Amino acid sequence: MADERLVTPARVDDDAQYEAGLRPRRMADYIGQDRVRAQLDVSITAARQRAEALDHVLLYGPPGLGKTTLAYVIANELGVAVRTTSGPVIERPGDLAGILSNLQPREVLFIDEIHRMPAAIEEILYPAMEDFELDIVIGQGPGARSVKVPIERFTLVGATTRAGLLTSPLRARFGIVQRLDFYTAVDIEEIVRRSARILNVELVGSAAGEIARRSRGTPRIANRLLHRVRDYAQVRADGRITPEVAEGAMKLLEVDRYGLDDVDRRLLTTIIDKFGGGPVGLTSLAAATSEEPDAIEDMHEPFLIQLGFLERTPRGRMATARGYEYLGRPMPGRGLF
Ligand SMILES: Nc1ncnc2c1ncn2[C@@H]1O[C@H](COP(=O)(O)OP(=O)(O)O)[C@@H](O)[C@H]1O
Ligand SMILES: [Mg+2]
Repeated sequence: MADERLVTPARVDDDAQYEAGLRPRRMADYIGQDRVRAQLDVSITAARQRAEALDHVLLYGPPGLGKTTLAYVIANELGVAVRTTSGPVIERPGDLAGILSNLQPREVLFIDEIHRMPAAIEEILYPAMEDFELDIVIGQGPGARSVKVPIERFTLVGATTRAGLLTSPLRARFGIVQRLDFYTAVDIEEIVRRSARILNVELVGSAAGEIARRSRGTPRIANRLLHRVRDYAQVRADGRITPEVAEGAMKLLEVDRYGLDDVDRRLLTTIIDKFGGGPVGLTSLAAATSEEPDAIEDMHEPFLIQLGFLERTPRGRMATARGYEYLGRPMPGRGLF
Protein backbone atom coordinates (compact mmCIF):
# COMPACT_ATOMS: atom_id res chain seq x y z
CA MET A 1 0.00 0.00 0.00
CA ALA A 2 1.10 3.50 -0.79
CA ASP A 3 0.73 4.56 2.84
CA GLU A 4 3.53 2.32 4.00
CA ARG A 5 6.09 3.98 1.77
CA LEU A 6 8.89 5.89 3.43
CA VAL A 7 8.55 8.99 1.31
CA THR A 8 4.79 9.19 1.25
CA PRO A 9 3.60 12.62 2.28
CA ALA A 10 0.51 11.04 3.86
CA ARG A 11 0.56 10.69 7.61
CA VAL A 12 1.32 7.14 8.72
CA ASP A 13 0.93 5.70 12.22
CA ASP A 14 4.58 6.10 13.18
CA ASP A 15 4.47 9.81 12.46
CA ALA A 16 1.90 10.47 15.17
CA GLN A 17 4.39 9.57 17.90
CA TYR A 18 6.82 12.33 17.13
CA GLU A 19 4.85 14.84 15.11
CA ALA A 20 3.40 16.39 18.24
CA GLY A 21 6.86 17.20 19.59
CA LEU A 22 8.16 18.68 16.35
CA ARG A 23 5.11 20.71 15.41
CA PRO A 24 5.74 24.48 15.54
CA ARG A 25 3.26 26.24 17.83
CA ARG A 26 3.88 29.89 17.01
CA MET A 27 4.23 31.75 13.73
CA ALA A 28 7.87 32.56 14.58
CA ASP A 29 8.70 28.83 14.58
CA TYR A 30 6.78 28.09 11.39
CA ILE A 31 9.53 27.92 8.77
CA GLY A 32 9.09 28.93 5.12
CA GLN A 33 5.81 29.74 3.29
CA ASP A 34 6.80 33.40 3.61
CA ARG A 35 3.94 34.80 1.55
CA VAL A 36 1.33 32.86 3.52
CA ARG A 37 2.89 33.81 6.85
CA ALA A 38 3.17 37.50 5.98
CA GLN A 39 -0.45 37.71 4.81
CA LEU A 40 -1.83 35.79 7.77
CA ASP A 41 0.24 37.84 10.17
CA VAL A 42 -1.46 41.06 9.04
CA SER A 43 -4.96 39.55 9.23
CA ILE A 44 -4.33 38.01 12.66
CA THR A 45 -2.85 41.18 14.12
CA ALA A 46 -5.73 43.24 12.76
CA ALA A 47 -8.33 40.85 14.19
CA ARG A 48 -6.59 40.88 17.56
CA GLN A 49 -6.42 44.67 17.66
CA ARG A 50 -10.13 44.92 16.92
CA ALA A 51 -10.89 42.06 19.31
CA GLU A 52 -12.86 40.41 16.53
CA ALA A 53 -12.95 36.91 15.13
CA LEU A 54 -10.53 36.38 12.25
CA ASP A 55 -12.12 35.84 8.82
CA HIS A 56 -12.63 32.20 7.88
CA VAL A 57 -9.45 30.65 6.47
CA LEU A 58 -9.12 27.94 3.82
CA LEU A 59 -5.72 26.22 3.61
CA TYR A 60 -5.04 23.95 0.68
CA GLY A 61 -2.13 22.05 -0.79
CA PRO A 62 -0.56 18.58 -0.92
CA PRO A 63 -0.36 16.49 2.27
CA GLY A 64 2.47 17.02 4.77
CA LEU A 65 3.09 20.69 4.01
CA GLY A 66 1.85 22.09 7.32
CA LYS A 67 -1.89 22.79 7.01
CA THR A 68 -2.85 21.25 10.36
CA THR A 69 0.18 22.86 12.00
CA LEU A 70 -0.80 26.25 10.62
CA ALA A 71 -4.40 25.90 11.85
CA TYR A 72 -3.08 25.49 15.42
CA VAL A 73 -0.54 28.29 14.96
CA ILE A 74 -3.38 30.61 13.88
CA ALA A 75 -5.37 29.79 17.03
CA ASN A 76 -2.29 30.24 19.24
CA GLU A 77 -1.52 33.60 17.67
CA LEU A 78 -5.15 34.66 18.13
CA GLY A 79 -4.91 33.51 21.73
CA VAL A 80 -7.99 31.30 21.47
CA ALA A 81 -8.79 27.61 21.80
CA VAL A 82 -9.19 25.38 18.78
CA ARG A 83 -11.84 22.68 18.28
CA THR A 84 -10.90 20.04 15.75
CA THR A 85 -12.93 17.76 13.55
CA SER A 86 -12.77 16.48 10.00
CA GLY A 87 -15.11 16.21 7.02
CA PRO A 88 -15.59 12.45 6.98
CA VAL A 89 -16.18 12.04 10.74
CA ILE A 90 -19.15 14.39 10.94
CA GLU A 91 -22.01 12.00 10.24
CA ARG A 92 -25.17 13.77 11.29
CA PRO A 93 -26.12 17.44 10.91
CA GLY A 94 -26.76 17.52 14.65
CA ASP A 95 -23.08 16.69 15.33
CA LEU A 96 -21.89 19.82 13.59
CA ALA A 97 -24.70 21.96 15.01
CA GLY A 98 -23.62 20.80 18.47
CA ILE A 99 -20.00 21.75 17.90
CA LEU A 100 -20.95 25.13 16.46
CA SER A 101 -23.30 26.05 19.27
CA ASN A 102 -20.65 25.26 21.88
CA LEU A 103 -17.98 27.53 20.42
CA GLN A 104 -16.84 30.44 22.58
CA PRO A 105 -16.38 33.91 21.04
CA ARG A 106 -13.52 34.09 18.50
CA GLU A 107 -12.56 30.44 18.89
CA VAL A 108 -11.17 28.48 15.97
CA LEU A 109 -13.04 25.50 14.53
CA PHE A 110 -10.62 23.43 12.48
CA ILE A 111 -12.20 21.12 9.89
CA ASP A 112 -9.63 18.89 8.24
CA GLU A 113 -10.39 17.27 4.87
CA ILE A 114 -13.24 19.70 4.49
CA HIS A 115 -13.84 18.53 0.90
CA ARG A 116 -15.12 15.22 2.29
CA MET A 117 -18.00 16.74 4.23
CA PRO A 118 -21.43 15.40 3.21
CA ALA A 119 -23.62 17.94 1.39
CA ALA A 120 -26.38 17.93 4.04
CA ILE A 121 -23.83 18.88 6.68
CA GLU A 122 -22.15 21.48 4.53
CA GLU A 123 -25.44 23.37 4.35
CA ILE A 124 -25.37 23.94 8.09
CA LEU A 125 -22.09 25.74 7.65
CA TYR A 126 -23.42 28.34 5.24
CA PRO A 127 -25.54 30.41 7.69
CA ALA A 128 -23.06 29.64 10.50
CA MET A 129 -20.14 31.08 8.56
CA GLU A 130 -22.01 33.98 7.06
CA ASP A 131 -24.45 35.18 9.70
CA PHE A 132 -23.28 33.25 12.76
CA GLU A 133 -26.59 31.50 13.16
CA LEU A 134 -27.97 28.01 12.80
CA ASP A 135 -31.15 27.20 10.89
CA ILE A 136 -32.88 24.65 13.05
CA VAL A 137 -35.95 22.84 11.77
CA ILE A 138 -38.50 22.12 14.48
CA GLY A 139 -41.19 19.51 14.00
CA GLN A 140 -41.96 17.41 10.96
CA GLY A 141 -44.21 17.43 7.93
CA PRO A 142 -46.48 20.38 7.16
CA GLY A 143 -46.13 21.76 10.70
CA ALA A 144 -42.35 21.96 10.52
CA ARG A 145 -40.83 25.39 10.84
CA SER A 146 -37.35 26.76 10.76
CA VAL A 147 -35.92 28.91 13.55
CA LYS A 148 -32.68 30.82 13.56
CA VAL A 149 -30.45 30.32 16.57
CA PRO A 150 -27.52 32.69 17.02
CA ILE A 151 -24.03 31.32 17.71
CA GLU A 152 -20.83 33.09 18.74
CA ARG A 153 -18.62 34.72 16.12
CA PHE A 154 -15.93 32.19 15.39
CA THR A 155 -13.25 31.43 12.81
CA LEU A 156 -13.52 28.37 10.62
CA VAL A 157 -10.17 27.07 9.43
CA GLY A 158 -10.68 24.48 6.70
CA ALA A 159 -7.91 22.31 5.27
CA THR A 160 -8.00 20.33 2.06
CA THR A 161 -5.68 18.67 -0.41
CA ARG A 162 -8.29 19.32 -3.11
CA ALA A 163 -9.57 22.85 -3.26
CA GLY A 164 -11.11 21.90 -6.60
CA LEU A 165 -13.57 19.54 -4.91
CA LEU A 166 -15.03 22.24 -2.68
CA THR A 167 -18.46 23.47 -3.73
CA SER A 168 -18.48 27.08 -4.81
CA PRO A 169 -20.90 28.28 -2.10
CA LEU A 170 -18.59 26.87 0.57
CA ARG A 171 -15.46 28.23 -1.02
CA ALA A 172 -17.01 31.65 -1.41
CA ARG A 173 -17.52 31.91 2.36
CA PHE A 174 -13.82 31.87 3.15
CA GLY A 175 -12.42 35.40 3.40
CA ILE A 176 -8.83 34.15 3.43
CA VAL A 177 -7.70 31.45 1.02
CA GLN A 178 -4.08 30.32 1.14
CA ARG A 179 -2.28 27.72 -0.93
CA LEU A 180 0.72 25.97 0.62
CA ASP A 181 3.46 25.11 -1.83
CA PHE A 182 6.31 22.65 -1.67
CA TYR A 183 9.11 24.10 0.47
CA THR A 184 12.40 25.31 -0.95
CA ALA A 185 15.51 23.23 -0.26
CA VAL A 186 16.78 25.99 2.06
CA ASP A 187 13.58 25.96 4.14
CA ILE A 188 13.47 22.17 4.38
CA GLU A 189 17.08 22.21 5.52
CA GLU A 190 16.16 24.64 8.28
CA ILE A 191 13.28 22.37 9.31
CA VAL A 192 15.68 19.41 9.47
CA ARG A 193 18.07 21.43 11.66
CA ARG A 194 15.27 22.56 13.95
CA SER A 195 13.97 19.01 14.35
CA ALA A 196 17.49 17.69 14.99
CA ARG A 197 17.92 20.26 17.78
CA ILE A 198 14.65 19.16 19.37
CA LEU A 199 15.62 15.48 19.03
CA ASN A 200 19.08 16.30 20.35
CA VAL A 201 20.94 14.65 17.48
CA GLU A 202 24.07 16.15 15.92
CA LEU A 203 24.15 16.97 12.19
CA VAL A 204 27.64 17.30 10.75
CA GLY A 205 28.59 19.35 7.66
CA SER A 206 26.20 18.99 4.75
CA ALA A 207 24.16 16.20 6.37
CA ALA A 208 21.05 18.40 6.77
CA GLY A 209 21.23 19.16 3.04
CA GLU A 210 21.50 15.46 2.17
CA ILE A 211 18.29 14.75 4.05
CA ALA A 212 16.54 17.90 2.81
CA ARG A 213 17.02 17.26 -0.88
CA ARG A 214 15.35 13.87 -0.66
CA SER A 215 12.34 15.17 1.24
CA ARG A 216 10.17 16.17 -1.74
CA GLY A 217 9.87 19.69 -0.38
CA THR A 218 7.66 18.25 2.37
CA PRO A 219 8.28 18.81 6.12
CA ARG A 220 6.53 15.59 7.14
CA ILE A 221 8.89 13.54 4.94
CA ALA A 222 11.92 15.51 6.15
CA ASN A 223 11.08 14.67 9.77
CA ARG A 224 10.42 11.03 8.94
CA LEU A 225 13.72 10.65 7.05
CA LEU A 226 15.55 12.37 9.91
CA HIS A 227 14.18 9.76 12.30
CA ARG A 228 15.27 6.86 10.11
CA VAL A 229 18.72 8.38 9.54
CA ARG A 230 19.08 8.92 13.27
CA ASP A 231 18.43 5.20 13.85
CA TYR A 232 21.03 4.34 11.25
CA ALA A 233 23.58 6.73 12.79
CA GLN A 234 23.06 5.15 16.19
CA VAL A 235 23.39 1.56 14.97
CA ARG A 236 25.97 1.85 12.19
CA ALA A 237 28.01 4.84 13.39
CA ASP A 238 28.68 6.86 16.55
CA GLY A 239 25.26 8.52 16.68
CA ARG A 240 26.26 11.69 14.83
CA ILE A 241 24.73 12.23 11.40
CA THR A 242 27.56 12.93 8.94
CA PRO A 243 26.92 13.33 5.19
CA GLU A 244 28.27 9.78 4.71
CA VAL A 245 25.92 8.40 7.35
CA ALA A 246 23.00 10.20 5.69
CA GLU A 247 24.00 8.80 2.26
CA GLY A 248 24.38 5.30 3.66
CA ALA A 249 21.00 5.41 5.35
CA MET A 250 19.25 6.67 2.21
CA LYS A 251 20.82 3.92 0.19
CA LEU A 252 19.60 1.32 2.64
CA LEU A 253 16.14 2.89 2.59
CA GLU A 254 16.11 3.02 -1.23
CA VAL A 255 15.24 6.69 -1.44
CA ASP A 256 16.79 8.11 -4.59
CA ARG A 257 18.44 11.49 -5.08
CA TYR A 258 15.13 13.20 -5.86
CA GLY A 259 13.24 11.53 -3.02
CA LEU A 260 11.36 9.36 -5.51
CA ASP A 261 10.45 5.78 -4.71
CA ASP A 262 9.35 2.84 -6.80
CA VAL A 263 5.68 3.92 -7.02
CA ASP A 264 6.68 7.28 -8.50
CA ARG A 265 9.04 5.57 -10.92
CA ARG A 266 6.42 3.00 -11.85
CA LEU A 267 3.93 5.74 -12.71
CA LEU A 268 6.40 7.39 -15.06
CA THR A 269 7.55 4.09 -16.56
CA THR A 270 3.94 3.04 -17.17
CA ILE A 271 3.11 6.27 -18.96
CA ILE A 272 6.14 5.78 -21.18
CA ASP A 273 6.01 2.02 -21.78
CA LYS A 274 2.28 1.33 -21.88
CA PHE A 275 0.92 4.62 -23.15
CA GLY A 276 3.66 5.85 -25.46
CA GLY A 277 4.49 8.74 -23.13
CA GLY A 278 0.85 9.85 -22.87
CA PRO A 279 -1.46 11.60 -22.78
CA VAL A 280 -3.21 9.09 -20.55
CA GLY A 281 -6.26 9.62 -18.36
CA LEU A 282 -6.09 9.23 -14.58
CA THR A 283 -8.38 6.18 -14.49
CA SER A 284 -6.37 4.27 -17.09
CA LEU A 285 -3.14 5.13 -15.32
CA ALA A 286 -4.54 4.01 -11.97
CA ALA A 287 -5.77 0.72 -13.47
CA ALA A 288 -2.45 0.04 -15.20
CA THR A 289 -0.43 0.64 -12.01
CA SER A 290 -2.93 -0.74 -9.44
CA GLU A 291 -2.71 2.52 -7.51
CA GLU A 292 -5.65 4.51 -6.18
CA PRO A 293 -6.57 7.48 -8.41
CA ASP A 294 -6.74 9.67 -5.28
CA ALA A 295 -3.25 8.68 -4.18
CA ILE A 296 -1.89 9.41 -7.63
CA GLU A 297 -3.53 12.82 -7.71
CA ASP A 298 -2.78 13.82 -4.11
CA MET A 299 0.67 12.44 -3.52
CA HIS A 300 2.57 11.38 -6.59
CA GLU A 301 1.57 13.74 -9.34
CA PRO A 302 2.10 17.06 -7.59
CA PHE A 303 5.73 16.28 -6.88
CA LEU A 304 6.45 14.70 -10.28
CA ILE A 305 4.98 17.84 -11.83
CA GLN A 306 7.08 20.00 -9.50
CA LEU A 307 10.20 18.16 -10.67
CA GLY A 308 9.13 18.69 -14.28
CA PHE A 309 8.95 14.94 -15.00
CA LEU A 310 5.22 14.91 -15.65
CA GLU A 311 2.75 17.28 -17.25
CA ARG A 312 -0.99 17.50 -16.78
CA THR A 313 -2.70 18.44 -20.04
CA PRO A 314 -6.42 18.68 -20.84
CA ARG A 315 -6.10 15.32 -22.60
CA GLY A 316 -4.31 13.56 -19.75
CA ARG A 317 -0.92 12.99 -18.14
CA MET A 318 2.24 13.12 -20.24
CA ALA A 319 5.84 12.27 -19.49
CA THR A 320 8.17 15.19 -20.22
CA ALA A 321 11.62 15.17 -21.80
CA ARG A 322 13.07 15.44 -18.27
CA GLY A 323 11.00 12.45 -17.21
CA TYR A 324 12.44 10.38 -20.04
CA GLU A 325 15.91 11.59 -19.16
CA TYR A 326 15.46 10.70 -15.49
CA LEU A 327 14.58 7.13 -16.42
CA GLY A 328 17.35 6.97 -19.02
CA ARG A 329 14.85 6.38 -21.84
CA PRO A 330 15.12 7.84 -25.31
CA MET A 331 12.29 10.24 -26.08
CA PRO A 332 10.42 9.24 -29.25
CA GLY A 333 11.43 11.43 -32.17
CA ARG A 334 14.32 12.94 -30.28
CA GLY A 335 16.86 10.15 -29.91
CA LEU A 336 18.73 9.69 -26.67
CA PHE A 337 21.45 12.27 -27.24
N1 LIG B 1 6.41 25.35 8.37
C1 LIG B 1 6.87 24.32 9.11
N2 LIG B 1 7.98 24.45 9.87
C2 LIG B 1 8.43 23.39 10.57
N3 LIG B 1 7.84 22.18 10.62
C3 LIG B 1 6.73 22.01 9.89
C4 LIG B 1 6.18 23.06 9.11
N4 LIG B 1 5.07 22.60 8.50
C5 LIG B 1 4.93 21.32 8.87
N5 LIG B 1 5.92 20.95 9.70
C6 LIG B 1 6.11 19.60 10.26
O1 LIG B 1 5.55 18.67 9.35
C7 LIG B 1 4.59 17.84 10.00
C8 LIG B 1 3.40 17.67 9.08
O2 LIG B 1 2.67 18.88 9.00
P1 LIG B 1 1.06 18.90 9.01
O3 LIG B 1 0.65 20.24 9.50
O4 LIG B 1 0.52 17.73 9.76
O5 LIG B 1 0.77 18.75 7.45
P2 LIG B 1 -0.63 18.67 6.67
O6 LIG B 1 -1.72 18.95 7.66
O7 LIG B 1 -0.54 19.70 5.59
O8 LIG B 1 -0.70 17.29 6.09
C9 LIG B 1 4.27 18.55 11.31
O9 LIG B 1 4.13 17.63 12.36
C10 LIG B 1 5.43 19.45 11.59
O10 LIG B 1 6.33 18.84 12.47
MG1 LIG C 1 -3.19 17.63 8.28
